[in-house]
Amino acid sequence: MRPFDGRRVLLVVSGGIAAYKSAILTRRLIEAGAGVEVILTAAAERFIGRVTFEGITGRPAHASLWDRPMAHLDLGLEADIVVVAPATANLISRLAAGAADDLAATAVLASRAPVILCPAMNTRMWEHPITQANVARLVDVGYGIAGPADGPLAEGESGPGRLLEPEEILPRIGRALETATGLRGRKIVVTAGPTRAALDPVRFISNRSSGRMGFALAEAAWRRGADVTLISGPGRVPRPPGPDVVEVETAGEMLAVLETALTDADILLMAAAVGDFEPTRTADSKIKKGDGFQLLLRAGPDLLLETRAFRERKGIFTLGFALETEDLLARGREKLERKGMHLVAVNSAVERDAGFESETNRITLINRSGRVEELPLAKKTELADELLDRIEASMAAAER
Ligand SMILES: Cc1cc2nc3c(=O)[nH]c(=O)nc-3n(C[C@H](O)[C@H](O)[C@H](O)COP(=O)(O)O)c2cc1C
Repeated sequence: MRPFDGRRVLLVVSGGIAAYKSAILTRRLIEAGAGVEVILTAAAERFIGRVTFEGITGRPAHASLWDRPMAHLDLGLEADIVVVAPATANLISRLAAGAADDLAATAVLASRAPVILCPAMNTRMWEHPITQANVARLVDVGYGIAGPADGPLAEGESGPGRLLEPEEILPRIGRALETATGLRGRKIVVTAGPTRAALDPVRFISNRSSGRMGFALAEAAWRRGADVTLISGPGRVPRPPGPDVVEVETAGEMLAVLETALTDADILLMAAAVGDFEPTRTADSKIKKGDGFQLLLRAGPDLLLETRAFRERKGIFTLGFALETEDLLARGREKLERKGMHLVAVNSAVERDAGFESETNRITLINRSGRVEELPLAKKTELADELLDRIEASMAAAER
């Protein structure tokens, strides 16, 4: 199932340079399964044509109060969520005043659905106390504010005022629409990616983990309303927007950040591929080719073992991964016991389409009572929700 299947989004586009990005946002929403109705302000129509949205959505885009009587009421009523992107200073001020002077403002005022505003404007306009007071007023009545981002603006200046990218807006809409609420307000710590152990200032040993499984878990948990800290090792895969991200490099750094993050955590999702070995010594300067080098390794810190006593004392629900090349189930069971997990997701390092670097995974779950469940091959993003469903269910059962 796609995350927005069956959901109806009313997208209100107001008149700023960033209006072109709302066409991409529309496309992404439709790809994710949403039905999208678009309203443009008169100024927005000067920046981007109605026909662009009509081509993307396959339905008429709306711009006037007078084209279709009652559209101003129907559009907001039928929507599961209203997204205003970009939200100009002008439209924000009109909404804050309760104005109903065009189709955009009237439809927002007449809707009972949650509203997310994505402001985009010049930094001076954004930071102006009047804009800030208008935003505060809208926050007060429950509107969500996504952005603006800090960065280069169209007029050549730089500062807060950029419209968030569609990829950043989408998960925020998902979080507002989410109906699986068992994780709402829970504090979840996710580890992801590989760690590195330095041989010298330019070389390291590491592993092939991309971080994708952990990122998918962090993104899904955040969308489901959790308060998520993602501790990530190095890598190129983009980090999910939403969770608080802490970047680390070594296993020791990951352990230190993890220990702090766990102090008020409810759940730990340990998807990082923490290096098992580290060199017995790290050279201070670059090892020369002619010098020769003998590599001696010792075991690095085991993050689950190091945190076991604390997790058990605090009752932190723990999911871990066991990536194995043979005896998958036996090794998974052994790790579950020894490392104090509630659920272990066993996957194969040698199977095609699973494990490291892949966008898909095949997981077998083992819980504390020994129950084994094989999940079919699926995208890591889909598996993340499957795993969270099971965690929610077993936490709910434990609390009953
Ligand atoms: C080239 C140009 C770019 C503009 N960009 C923005 C912008 O990014 N954000 C903003 O709040 N207003 C911007 N404005 C001003 C709005 O277009 C103007 O306030 C308009 O009345 C907004 O109407 P609306 O809020 O009904 O869409 C821009 C104006 C021009 C001419």
